[in-house]
Amino acid sequence: MSAARATRFLRACRGQEVDRTPVWLMRQAGRYLPEYRATRAQVSGFLKLCQTPELACEVTLQPLRRFDLDAAILFSDILTVPHAMGMELDFLEGEGPVFSSPLRQASDLQRLGQPDPEQELRYVMDAVRLIRHELDGRVPLIGFAGSPWTLACYMIEGRGSRDFLHAKSWLYSDPESLEQLLDRLVQALVAYLRAQATAGAQALMLFDTWGGTLSTPAYHRFSFTPMQRVIAGLRAAPESVDLPIIVFSKGGSNWLELMANSGANVIGLDWTIEINAARKRLGKSVAVQGNLDPIALYGQSALLRAEIERILCANAGRPGHIFNLGHGITPQTPIDNVELLVETVHAWNGCNNDSVYEEY
Ligand code: CP3
Repeated sequence: MSAARATRFLRACRGQEVDRTPVWLMRQAGRYLPEYRATRAQVSGFLKLCQTPELACEVTLQPLRRFDLDAAILFSDILTVPHAMGMELDFLEGEGPVFSSPLRQASDLQRLGQPDPEQELRYVMDAVRLIRHELDGRVPLIGFAGSPWTLACYMIEGRGSRDFLHAKSWLYSDPESLEQLLDRLVQALVAYLRAQATAGAQALMLFDTWGGTLSTPAYHRFSFTPMQRVIAGLRAAPESVDLPIIVFSKGGSNWLELMANSGANVIGLDWTIEINAARKRLGKSVAVQGNLDPIALYGQSALLRAEIERILCANAGRPGHIFNLGHGITPQTPIDNVELLVETVHAWNGCNNDSVYEEY
């Protein structure tokens, strides 16, 4: 067992020096792996996979058997929380998640309960406990949840959306009741993430996939502020006070100065901004995670390697960089290129044209 591998990711989250840049990939467990598809075929649906701790543990570990990754991420989904609040959820083949009775007006909020994480979401906590046991300290385990805004988007739309017509028209017609929904999600998420920490998660990540769809004032009020409250809730609890927290707003590079004050240790970056520019705006108190375009993995290997090195050079060896994609890995990704990615990151030993990047 390598002691460096066991601590590299957590050290980078805290901005400490590391022997080499840690790397993990959003959605590292998933359909691009044949062994995932085989495990998935053993159960009737995706939700069942999440609800069966032994299988959730198995698929969490699958990418770690293939690649020299520096962290594991709990296999689950962000939508287990609205499901546990009482919303019926299906994952349809070729369509994705669907809530059959979405929230459409303030009175619908009465349908929502506050889940007890060790009851309604016990299967997640059991998966965390089992994964920690199986990992046996080799790499740390990341727990996660969706951001309040991103969960609200699915709860209101009922499914994925191009324009978020229902969620955003609620925002512009009855912002107070939208805030009530977000408040309830803040409460549920603090309890859920605290329970993950107690069960053994060693870092926590908030996925704000749809924050970037908002105007600047709307992002501030409906996406950022609720996330900041989740983080404050975690910082106030003994089990999560010291855990590294990662926050990722896709499309959020407009608001980096704000995000630097979220209370998170690490800011996730999509691929639209250069790390050196991002770090200059974020300042020295936070680390960054990202930021390869996941579609670069479909490219020619020499160009993929060049993209990876461009990103590493943009960080220029500064502590506090966790290599990752700018969004989740997609189902047709060639496995060889994933291996090439991990090897290229780990083999990197500095770049010879650091000087093209401005110091921050
Ligand atoms: O990263 C990991 O390996 C851990 C597992 C994980 C999943 N979903 C598994 C999953 C994580 C961290 C998530 C987060 C998630 N889920 C997000 C935020 C991150 C992002 O990608 O933006 C969102 C928005 C969801 C909601 C969700 N779940 C959607 C939109 C879909 C359908 C899209 C798709 O790829 O089919 C899911 C299903 C889902 N979640 C799958 C996986 C592996 C595919 C389901 C299958 O096997 O059929």
